[in-house]
Amino acid sequence: MIIAVDGPTASGKGTIAIALAAHFGLPHLDTGLLYRAVGRQVAINQGNPDDPADALAACEFPDALLADEQLRSEESGGLASRVSIHPQVREALFARQRAFATQEGGAVLDGRDIGTVIAPDAPIKLYITASATERARRRWLEMTGREIEIPLAEIEQDIIARDNRDIGRKDAPLKAAPDAMVIDTTTLGKEEAIAAVIQAVEEALS
Ligand code: DC
Repeated sequence: MIIAVDGPTASGKGTIAIALAAHFGLPHLDTGLLYRAVGRQVAINQGNPDDPADALAACEFPDALLADEQLRSEESGGLASRVSIHPQVREALFARQRAFATQEGGAVLDGRDIGTVIAPDAPIKLYITASATERARRRWLEMTGREIEIPLAEIEQDIIARDNRDIGRKDAPLKAAPDAMVIDTTTLGKEEAIAAVIQAVEEALS
């Protein structure tokens, strides 16, 4: 069984995907990490993330880069969003994601285009969302916890800019598949959101 989990940044989709994978005993792939690795590799190569050739060359990143803590930074998220605009990059990362999705026994993948492009055949598709203000608050709390000082307003601006880029790009934009279950986590705590999603998936399967 393939479970596709899409949604904007800081919507809770990653946490929910990990919880679903544990609940159903499935392997999980955070596809955003692949784009973050490409973005980071462009920076290592001293290339330009907005240049399609530089971004494509960075798709040859070493697997060890996926474990780099720096990939979790806001800077890497911004670079990932920029390189992800290029169709060449999306194509270069397609086979790896599709192979993960179609492995025997099934898988959970989270990203922006899992239900629309990578696994449009997934029987379970979720689109996890939350207001930009709430997503900024969550990201701010997480960063404050890691002792990173950054004004809340700056985070909200970054989140809105990233949403606009992810939603507005021509190739595989962020959007809910027509058959996705849309779950808004704005007013839900982490455990409530996980419970609501597991219940929705269990109901859809029965
Ligand atoms: O989920 P994330 O914040 O780690 O993703 C970082 C960026 O990568 C996101 O802004 C857009 C891009 N991305 C994408 O285009 N398609 C995906 N399936 C996953 C991420």
